Amino acid sequence: MHAAAAQSAVDAKRLWDDLMTLAGFGARDDGGVCRHALSVEDMAARAWLTDKARERGYRIAADDAANLFITRPGRDDTLPPVLAGSHMDSQPAGGKFDGAYGVLAAFEALRALDNAGIETARPVACVAWTNEEGGRFHVPCTGSRAFATGAVPEPEQTDENGVPLAEALKTTLDAAPDVERIAPGFPIHAYIEPHIEQGPVLEREGLPVGVVTGIQGVRWFNVTVSGEPGHAGTVPHAVRRDAFQAALRAIGALNELMHDPDDIVRFTVGHVSVVPNSPNTIPASVTFSIDFRHPDAAVLDARASRIAGLVAEAVKPCTAVLTPTTVMQPVAFPDAVTQAIAAAADTAGLAHKQLASGAFHDAAHIAGVCPSGMIFIPCRGGLSHHPDEWATAEHCSAGARVLAGTLATLAG
Ligand code: GLV
Ligand code: MN
Ligand code: MN
Repeated sequence: MHAAAAQSAVDAKRLWDDLMTLAGFGARDDGGVCRHALSVEDMAARAWLTDKARERGYRIAADDAANLFITRPGRDDTLPPVLAGSHMDSQPAGGKFDGAYGVLAAFEALRALDNAGIETARPVACVAWTNEEGGRFHVPCTGSRAFATGAVPEPEQTDENGVPLAEALKTTLDAAPDVERIAPGFPIHAYIEPHIEQGPVLEREGLPVGVVTGIQGVRWFNVTVSGEPGHAGTVPHAVRRDAFQAALRAIGALNELMHDPDDIVRFTVGHVSVVPNSPNTIPASVTFSIDFRHPDAAVLDARASRIAGLVAEAVKPCTAVLTPTTVMQPVAFPDAVTQAIAAAADTAGLAHKQLASGAFHDAAHIAGVCPSGMIFIPCRGGLSHHPDEWATAEHCSAGARVLAGTLATLAG
């Protein structure tokens, strides 16, 4: 009964207006969003959201990783809360919905519980995790990892301007002195993350809701290839040690290693830096990233174990250093959570299907802390990590209704 009441109290226009307002923090000229974690734009977005939370009388707190928690009290505040949310940082050329949708759908669900006059047994909280994308600090999911492990991962890592993560966290936390500081890693009853699908399945099948069964595994590496700089006009090719040409050979070898006739392996080189990066100097060193994913841990382990040897061979006479930067094991969400989400979609009269996530999410880390799950909504053309990323107001509201119903049920 509570689930249906909470769902009907979701205000589609209020949610849409919030999405468009949040997209203004870091808006790009091409319609996309660049809101790096812990940037000036991110701090302004956090201040905007906490002001709205304060108006509602919610409890606002942040932990050492600058994860932001907005809590609607329950009947018994000693009980672990039910948590929902996602992240507010974006890709450098990202869209309006990746992450932002999950945070604002969760915030809307809290308001819907208010508007429906529902008192839950447990508190219900909205969370914005820090640096999920890894666009600024290249170890992704900083906030959810810190929450799951009790420590901020690699606080000494720096952004492209040399700013350490620890300093950016301090700046962000100091900018909000009125936000209560809490210890990371408190007990949670369950975690639900709403998100755009970032793929084409729901749109193709005309379905408003996806019930996510799990998240494929991910490995990230950095490869630094070292060569010998020199004059582009004079050094004969026979004696060159050109780091960029060597990196190209390594990437060619990796393309062969990652080739998969079934097209399930995902392999991306998305970040490259060249030193000294001058048209007429032979590159001295090149660092490139590897993002490699598969649903099966055995496939990830087997191919990952061959990367170092292949790269070392391919870059000769240059040398290479391979540094693993991220390991995320494949995650399967528990049936109890997927069933609660499917039941909430049924109550709302929304057609749904089960599907797995190709993208990673903070839920991959929180799944190790408490029963977790995800709700997907369709996005236009399956497009994401792209300024044109788009979801309709109707689908945004559908996902928020499923979330509100699921939270009402899980919070008792
Ligand atoms: C998340 O942004 C991902 O890259 O999957
Ligand atoms: Mn995301
Ligand atoms: Mn993303």
